[in-house]
Amino acid sequence: MDVMVLNGDGIGPEIMNAAIKIINKLHENFGLNINPVEYDIGAVTLDNGKWDLDHILDEARKYKAILKAPMGDPKLRNTGGTEKALDVILSLRFDLDLYANVRPVRLLPGVESPLKSYNNPDSINYTIIRENSEGLYSSHFGGLVLRDELAIDNQTITRKGTERISRFAFELAKKTKGSPKDGKKSVVCVDKSNVLRSFAFFRKIFSEVSSRYDEIVAKYMYADAMAQHMIIRPDELNVIVTENMFGDVLSDLGAATVGGLGFAYSGNISDNMGMFEPVHGSAPDIAGRNIANPTAMIMSTSMMLDWLGFGKFSKIIEDSLFNAIRSGVRTPDMGGNATTSYFTESILKNM
Ligand code: IPM
Ligand code: MN
Repeated sequence: MDVMVLNGDGIGPEIMNAAIKIINKLHENFGLNINPVEYDIGAVTLDNGKWDLDHILDEARKYKAILKAPMGDPKLRNTGGTEKALDVILSLRFDLDLYANVRPVRLLPGVESPLKSYNNPDSINYTIIRENSEGLYSSHFGGLVLRDELAIDNQTITRKGTERISRFAFELAKKTKGSPKDGKKSVVCVDKSNVLRSFAFFRKIFSEVSSRYDEIVAKYMYADAMAQHMIIRPDELNVIVTENMFGDVLSDLGAATVGGLGFAYSGNISDNMGMFEPVHGSAPDIAGRNIANPTAMIMSTSMMLDWLGFGKFSKIIEDSLFNAIRSGVRTPDMGGNATTSYFTESILKNM
């Protein structure tokens, strides 16, 4: 099976290299039949004209799964001031209708949380479902700046978008083991329905959908309250569903509680396609130095294999990654001095 691989910018190619080595090793040792088809797509190749958005989308539509490295170069901007790379990322998310952005917040074995009372593996283990096809982000290709005096972006919340993302969250909760604290399965709707009508609508639709899931507790929290809840009692959480922009912000916060952005992985899922990527950016400041933590890229790969129905291979990746971390191999962001390639080699050895 062919999988589209987008190498991205900054640390993108370095951490993707780690993921591809692992895929190849799974092929050699265990017969995994995945063929990574690499594309040099990112802010730089969009800017120099090697690729344009339509061309990228046409190519992407040929695949069931995409493995994507971070993209972005802060120097490459659109006239409105936004970043060029975001045109690629958001086109992929919007035009391929990858409406559910699934972002696990999970304390991996051997990784330390800065939250003192949460230091057993999986004592933090919940999933943020970020609505990925509308919300405030849908204004990216619109938006308006008037005479350097006034700027407007609009938030879009639709019944269809909210129904499907709510359903997705409840279906996911069904498949989980519930919260680390008491194993209760719940979905928390996160919004600011106290302030904006669009969010009150979001909450109303969520509540309608929740009535079809008696076995799962539906909860409600304002986004600001959730930000502190994620720090104070993360073990009570199971599944969170929220609007696009809130999901963006809260997933970085969640990442910080489980060791940092190096551990935050994700899948952008539609009813028939999936794109898997780290939550973090292209980190231009450390690009080319062979010190980036490839964990999020590798866990995204594992998540992709699981989603494609290769659960056995996904498990092999996780086990060998966790063994490497437990044996003390640490990149600089984890307080160690392992290079990206040494970290990757240690995983390969464990396979
Ligand atoms: C993320 C990133 C992206 C976002 C950027 C790079 C478009 O921060 O995946 O969380 O804002 O969604
Ligand atoms: Mn983000």
